[in-house]
Amino acid sequence: MIEKLDVIGKQALEDLKSASSLELLEQLRVSLLGKKGALSEVLKGLGAVSADERPKIGAAANEWKRRIEETLEARKAQLETVALEAQLKSQRIDTSIPSRLSHRGTHHIITRTTRRLLQTFQRLGFDVTTGPEVETEFLNFEAVNIPKDHPARDMQDTFFMGPGVVLRTHTSSVQMRTMRSRQWPVRIVCPGAVYRSDHDATHSPMFHQVEGLWVDRGIKMSDLKGVLAFFARETFGPEVKVRLRPSYFPFVEPGAEVDVSCFQCGTKPVSTCKVCRGSGWLEILGAGMVHPRLLELAGYSGDDLTGFAFGIGIERIAMILHGVPDLRLMFSGDSRFLNQF
Ligand code: PHE
Repeated sequence: MIEKLDVIGKQALEDLKSASSLELLEQLRVSLLGKKGALSEVLKGLGAVSADERPKIGAAANEWKRRIEETLEARKAQLETVALEAQLKSQRIDTSIPSRLSHRGTHHIITRTTRRLLQTFQRLGFDVTTGPEVETEFLNFEAVNIPKDHPARDMQDTFFMGPGVVLRTHTSSVQMRTMRSRQWPVRIVCPGAVYRSDHDATHSPMFHQVEGLWVDRGIKMSDLKGVLAFFARETFGPEVKVRLRPSYFPFVEPGAEVDVSCFQCGTKPVSTCKVCRGSGWLEILGAGMVHPRLLELAGYSGDDLTGFAFGIGIERIAMILHGVPDLRLMFSGDSRFLNQF
């Protein structure tokens, strides 16, 4: 048996030293030292050996085992070094290769337009507030004087989240929220997303508005016009004028639609103008004097307490400013479009 062990051992050391890969080495380890390996196979015959021979054979087997393990470790270390060197060589970094251009994100056109509008009003002393997009039907409708049978409440326009809960259809829902939470005077602008069931080139089911509300003693229609004229000049250019056309919104009286003169054509409208299509005017927002019923509902009372409100469509402003033909581009996530801003 000792001879057998010697034969196996010598052969093993040779094999191990010349093993050319880590996989091969592992195979050798199993075939030599494993449960069914060559050494174990020999030792299985130990039972047939006389008692005084046994320790010698055991010692010889252990010695071979030790030498095999030693050689195995040494060869393993060698092969690993070679593998590492090869890897480092293949992964060498060539610092002379031009780098890939890193991508840098920017703010979305809606974010930028919103910030710009807010800053303009902040300079006039308006505070920025916000309100929730999931709103009670009460604050979205009743509280701004839109009665139960009003067409705006139709399922086709409004997204209902549950009984009495809607996705706000305009930021005017923030008017009563604000007035109920603080005493007058109130001078706020409120930006945010609003939702209507509508989808074409100029309408999206989700879009953004900035609501404005100023309630104080003796606020007049001329204050409204002054604030909007300032906003129009700051946004579209110093030459731009505003005009108010009578219109109807349940929460204001009187109400108006507000146009700015075309910043492209100037004083003489050009029929081929892409911005105003030759009309010389651009409709940009709705506004009016706060309906007395709202002040009452807010619990506001005071001599000659009045106010004005306005609602600006942010997408509309961004489209006019940048000549964007289709509103849907803004929410397409198409980097070819977004990168232009
Ligand atoms: N809430 C109106 C809309 O969404 C805009 C508006 C706000 C009009 C405030 C008048 C006053 O169309």
